[in-house]
Amino acid sequence: MAQLWGGRFTKETEDSVFSFNESLSFDKRLFYKDIEGSIAHVVMLEKQKIITLEEKDAIVKGLTSIQEDVDKGNLEFSSEYEDVHSFVEAKLIERIGDAGKKMHTGRSRNDQVALDMRLYVREEVAATDDLLYDLLKVIYRVMSENIETYMPGFTHLQKAQPVTIAHHFGAYFEMFKRDRSRLQDIYKRMNFCPLGAGALAGTTYPLDREYVSSMLGFEGATLNSMDSVSDRDYCIEFLSALSTIMMHLSRFSEEIIIWNSNEYRFIEIDDAYSTGSSIMPQKKNPDIAELVRGKTGRVYGALMSLLTTMKGIPLAYNKDMQEDKEVTFDAIDTVKDCLSLFTGMIDTMKFRPDVMAKSAMMGFTNATDAADYLVKKGVPFRDAHGIIGRLVLYCIDKNCSIEDLSLEELKSISEVFEADLYDAITLKTCVEKRLTKGAPGPKQMEEVLKIHEKYLKDRNVLFQSYLKEE
Ligand code: ARG
Repeated sequence: MAQLWGGRFTKETEDSVFSFNESLSFDKRLFYKDIEGSIAHVVMLEKQKIITLEEKDAIVKGLTSIQEDVDKGNLEFSSEYEDVHSFVEAKLIERIGDAGKKMHTGRSRNDQVALDMRLYVREEVAATDDLLYDLLKVIYRVMSENIETYMPGFTHLQKAQPVTIAHHFGAYFEMFKRDRSRLQDIYKRMNFCPLGAGALAGTTYPLDREYVSSMLGFEGATLNSMDSVSDRDYCIEFLSALSTIMMHLSRFSEEIIIWNSNEYRFIEIDDAYSTGSSIMPQKKNPDIAELVRGKTGRVYGALMSLLTTMKGIPLAYNKDMQEDKEVTFDAIDTVKDCLSLFTGMIDTMKFRPDVMAKSAMMGFTNATDAADYLVKKGVPFRDAHGIIGRLVLYCIDKNCSIEDLSLEELKSISEVFEADLYDAITLKTCVEKRLTKGAPGPKQMEEVLKIHEKYLKDRNVLFQSYLKEE
């Protein structure tokens, strides 16, 4: 055990206490952010004449060498340290001696961890956005290739009215686009620098907090030091946005599972994204979609976990907050994996337009259009609804579709029917006539696709500086 706080203690920590308390096993993920934050801190300390130029240079060199050694695999996060911050400081002092002991001047681990976590989450917000962008591009491609690929639209999982693949996928385009805008909101709100808040009440050193903030790409320094060290809202907001992304992915997965089933056969998931059964040779299972649906639970769990952790914490920092990390990291990993696998699965799956069109023609998906036909001939809608209802009942009895009935049969139910009914209720007409904004009609769809194309032109500029340079 190597600790930062031996002075006032007369006994060694119990091993079990140490391992219960430690966070290095998971906060080592913050290592690069810790180095980045510490460099910014000491550069500012030197600018403010709190440490000398030589001390600053020695610290920066030491931190850089620690980073290089970790990169090369020459330095391990050995379990004797409590957390990543103690690890880095101990290694620095080992390497450069007394100058290393000055790195922590005017800083506490409370504002240090608040900074590291913010830097980490900020980057992950941008990385998640990037994966959403990739998914949207694939959805856009599927949409533009399937403006006239008909399929049944459902309500209550009962066939309702015909739509197209473009229109159905377009619904998910809207969802994931909203997810991106949620990430942008979070990013804007969280992009303030907590460093300089100290343990909770700032510091008596003449720190230049705005300078550190701009070095680290923040909008500005936070305004209340107690809030700065105890704010985890951005983690909660991110977990909430991640939960919503998972909810969308889960709904989409559910549809893919249904479409891929033997009963529907609307799509075929590519072999590379399917799995077999150990006993039933005929099986090709949609495991990826099922796992995405299943993993939604653990992301919701992370959100509930952190909300609950935070609910009873008095100001300012309390160790409870260390619990922010594992759940946030796990949710980030889960969502990123799900997004990239899901994108691959959608990109490679095949549609069966013939099966979809056949299905769309059955189940009276043109019944509303038949009623609308009567309305256009002067029948009030409520009466038309009743007439078509009787017609459907007649068809169910005969086991046929509306368009299979002869004109005589139609006229026996209502005199208003003429031969032009047949054209008015084909699959093509049913879709083509739906031209209100947001409807599946191909002309309308093309308008929407133009908007999407423009939207997809650039990956979001707001995040660009935080994405790793290729
Ligand atoms: N490992 C700690 C955490 O993640 C770092 C902050 C420790 N601060 C303290 N006062 N013990 O929250």
